[in-house]
Amino acid sequence: MIQSISNSDDKEYKTHSNLYNKFRPSYPSRIIEKIISLISPEQRKWALDVGCGTGLLTRQLAPHFEHVLGIDSSEKQVKVAEQSSETDSLNITYMRADSDDLEDILNQLSIQKNDVSLVTVAEAFHWLDTEKFLNNFQNILSRKCHLALIGYPRPFVLTPSHLSDEYFQISNPELIERGLSEFDDQVSKLVDKFYNLVRNYAGFDWSILDSEYQCYETQFQKKFLRVTTEKMAQIVPVNLFEFYQNTQTSSAYNRYCIAEKKSKGENFTDELLVLISEVLKLKKLEHLGEISHTCEFSDTEIVNMKSVCFNLYYNIFVWYLSNCE
Ligand SMILES: C[S@@+](CC[C@H](N)C(=O)[O-])C[C@H]1O[C@@H](n2cnc3c(N)ncnc32)[C@H](O)[C@@H]1O
Repeated sequence: MIQSISNSDDKEYKTHSNLYNKFRPSYPSRIIEKIISLISPEQRKWALDVGCGTGLLTRQLAPHFEHVLGIDSSEKQVKVAEQSSETDSLNITYMRADSDDLEDILNQLSIQKNDVSLVTVAEAFHWLDTEKFLNNFQNILSRKCHLALIGYPRPFVLTPSHLSDEYFQISNPELIERGLSEFDDQVSKLVDKFYNLVRNYAGFDWSILDSEYQCYETQFQKKFLRVTTEKMAQIVPVNLFEFYQNTQTSSAYNRYCIAEKKSKGENFTDELLVLISEVLKLKKLEHLGEISHTCEFSDTEIVNMKSVCFNLYYNIFVWYLSNCE
């Protein structure tokens, strides 16, 4: 049974939660296995996924616990999470709630504090009042409860040059087998351009993610007995049409356009459409012809754009924090 307790609305994810769900990486199974291994089987009653978004991690945790609670401050994200989990997870509860209200949330759902053995925060810790969150975690939950903080900086396009990199060979040996496209270098430049353009409009200080949360290390060391960290790459295959859609619905890009007083058809979108045209011409597919600011594509153009695929790679890092020996 999926339960939800929702009571407010939000702007950020209102229009694009479904696309968000597609574009974000699910978390590598090795990370899930490691998190689970920290908790003895008899203690796996409740896991709490804070800032659960569309439920990517919540769903991955569900098979390992009696119950998983995903909370998020965005009504829209919670709705998409519920729809995505409907068919496959019977032990997930989603709730629209703020991380600051941890105690009220547990009381409202009659969850015993000692029954919560894991709290996860994936790509969301940097959105929280971190000091308040860590204090709540320590004051409210059992000392045996583990905290896993997961994050990743902006993704990059995997290009042939990465294949000789030992890091990729170790974390994703299957990539060596997977064919890369001759357009990867071109697409890579464009993806770099996009993230450089929007990095100051993300709504948080992007250097926190670039630092892989090293900036919080002193705070972690002060509060926890055990602080360990690890990192691995996760690959998300996407195509040019998805990338195009993702740029157009990105809240950071929209904020950039408003701040710079640019209509969406200018600058980056134009460049993106030129690149798409060039790639399609090189592929000897019907190209887009005149580039239009309204960007309405025919069905054939969409099919062609979808045929140009590339791999985005995410450098995922995890901080494991606990007071258990
Ligand atoms: C980048 S998303 C990550 C979502 C998901 N954990 C994932 O891995 O895809 C960050 C999420 O944190 C949520 N969020 C931000 N501040 C929050 C808060 N104070 N309490 C609860 N959720 C919050 C946002 O609504 C958003 O869904």
